Amino acid sequence: MAIEVLGLSGSPHRHGNTETLLDAFLDGARSTGGSVNKVVLKELDYTPCRGCNVCHKTGECIVKDDAITLFERIFTVDCLAVASPIYSMGITAELKGLIDRAQFIWAQKFILKTRYFPDEHIRAHKGIFISTAGLSWDNVFDAAFPAITAFFNTVGFEYYDNIIAHEMDRYKGIRGHPTALKEAFEKGVRVVSEIEKIHSS
Ligand SMILES: Cc1cc2nc3c(=O)[nH]c(=O)nc-3n(C[C@H](O)[C@H](O)[C@H](O)COP(=O)(O)O)c2cc1C
Repeated sequence: MAIEVLGLSGSPHRHGNTETLLDAFLDGARSTGGSVNKVVLKELDYTPCRGCNVCHKTGECIVKDDAITLFERIFTVDCLAVASPIYSMGITAELKGLIDRAQFIWAQKFILKTRYFPDEHIRAHKGIFISTAGLSWDNVFDAAFPAITAFFNTVGFEYYDNIIAHEMDRYKGIRGHPTALKEAFEKGVRVVSEIEKIHSS
């Protein structure tokens, strides 16, 4: 069975730097036999978390919208690539809004103890963070990493790798970057092969 790869594009800018970098990763994954799909978060209809904490008692989110359907889909894939540009030194509202909506899964795991991901499951489910930033600062992605770590932990994926490219202003966009698109393609190839190896071991 083909390795299922899902890309979440968290940029509101269609076909911009970040989605293009995500596409290069997905092309690599497809080139080696991965079954690849992409969801553009801004095309979905979901609200931010209300903080009502009902999920702490029921394990369910009371808001039934596209976020819930997307989480169900996330649980069917082997590789999850989450992409966001850096906005105001963090991830976009689209992606942060989705991550906050995973609170009901967190509640299932840590309060109600109705969901548990064994280590072998986590090892076979790889998460990749893909991002671009305008500035050259070394620390420009630092505020994004903890939120992405929290998300992959919650949904049972190993935080496997980053594909990040800064200085988009200097390079005049991702296509001007000397290595990022090639790196993304190669990492797409590598992660599918890695998961295949785990499945066959
Ligand atoms: C609202 C907004 C906020 C931004 N904030 C930052 C920032 O804090 N640091 C940075 O390096 N770049 C920042 N940028 C630049 C983007 O991260 C950069 O241009 C990125 O490659 C855009 O990706 P996209 O084409 O997928 O939208 C910002 C851009 C926008 C539109």
